[in-house]
Amino acid sequence: MIVCSNQIEVIVRQLLSFVTVVLSLPSLASAQPVKVVDIEPRFDFPAPQAGLESLRDRQDLSGMRRHAWRVFEGLTQPVDPHTPVWITWHTRIEIFPQGLMIQKRRKESKLNETPFFTELEPPLQLVDKRISLDGDRNVLSGIYFNHSAFLHIQHDHTWFGEKVQLQVPPSIERLNKWFDDHPAEADVAARQIPPFPRDSIAVKVMWKPVHQSGLTEMAVWDVDSYSSSHFNSRPELNKRVVHIDPSGSTFRCPGSAVQSALPARPRPGVTDINDFYYRPVCSEAEAEVASAVAKVPVEVNDYIVLVGFHFTTKEIPDWVWATAWWHDRPREGPYAKDRPLTLRAPWNHYLLNVAFDAETPKQPDGSPRICFNPWLEGSFPDGPVSNCMACHRLSTFPKTDILPVNRGALPPDHQFFVGRTKLDFLWSLAIRTQ
Ligand code: HEC
Repeated sequence: MIVCSNQIEVIVRQLLSFVTVVLSLPSLASAQPVKVVDIEPRFDFPAPQAGLESLRDRQDLSGMRRHAWRVFEGLTQPVDPHTPVWITWHTRIEIFPQGLMIQKRRKESKLNETPFFTELEPPLQLVDKRISLDGDRNVLSGIYFNHSAFLHIQHDHTWFGEKVQLQVPPSIERLNKWFDDHPAEADVAARQIPPFPRDSIAVKVMWKPVHQSGLTEMAVWDVDSYSSSHFNSRPELNKRVVHIDPSGSTFRCPGSAVQSALPARPRPGVTDINDFYYRPVCSEAEAEVASAVAKVPVEVNDYIVLVGFHFTTKEIPDWVWATAWWHDRPREGPYAKDRPLTLRAPWNHYLLNVAFDAETPKQPDGSPRICFNPWLEGSFPDGPVSNCMACHRLSTFPKTDILPVNRGALPPDHQFFVGRTKLDFLWSLAIRTQ
């Protein structure tokens, strides 16, 4: 179906006024609007800056992990039985309506039919040609900003006397030029956009398709593959796989022909789909979007399961960085530590890692801290030795390459930042507006 651009403008405006997500009665998916829901303050968000900086400076890894788990718990609280808080947040279509990706997707004319699925796209990081072509491309990705971060992007700022609107690329270009012309008023360290408020959060997620019947094979990343230069999540190339059984799914499309929702029979190497956060694919339009993005056939009544979940909070100036990924043995190893007992299923099936700093706490060999997600950075060359902050601080105008992976601290007045404007660590500002 071709939708004319006027109609699309109307749809985008509607999307801007409220977020449409799938609100489900128990066991059924149906499209209903849900308002943007904030994370509750009882989940230690935003935590006092001095306390977080003290955890960082004392290199109290356990304290940092406990904070990240608490925020994760807040992010994943159910708004209704199948909708966690973060899904109600602003998506790239609202955040960057002028962005290149959205222009492209407009041509594909799916905006009005599949609000949730339209948000999904191939992870931009993996579009880089240097990322091994034999890697797993059958993934779907999406970004979500909380209300505070979203408002900051939309706001008309006055910054160094210049008008700045972060959604509008020429305004960042003008700011960069102003910095070039006024070196006495803003040195290299000061060349940055207006910083986000402390209660800002950005999320990036990664999904994999799962068939509605039979078993779907999926690779798992084990800590012992740590030494390898990248994690290849293509099951046929990976050491260990699990088989996902959808027969007991408790979240299905309305009128789904698949009958019973009996609990899946426990079998070795077989994982119940309810151990994941997942969503059913409920219309031809959704299936079409999911197939196009994941580059594998996805049919109505199939599922997408959440495998990777990045989040970053502006509670400290360089942001708190954390990432969670699904694992079939979620109670084992260093990434299971400090998980609150109150974290509910299926979210307690995810492992977590955290970085408050690009350097510390150091690795056992004395090298700078590593923090990565096997599903997101795992397929980069050297992804399994990367650090969120070390890469994200390179988000600048003019844009630079994300690769090669670099590690360790880079002071804000480093030579690299000469002639550039720092975009407060958010890559989407560099990629989606330039
Ligand atoms: C080698 C570079 C690199 C590394 C390492 C990296 N990222 Fe990213 N990240 C990106 C790029 C590129 C994007 C794409 C922006 C988009 O999709 O709009 C991104 C997007 C994101 C976003 C969405 C918000 C934004 O625009 O920046 C979050 C949140 C995020 N990453 C968190 C993390 C976390 C947490 C880690 C570490 C566990 C991490 N990233 C590691 C490059 C990197």
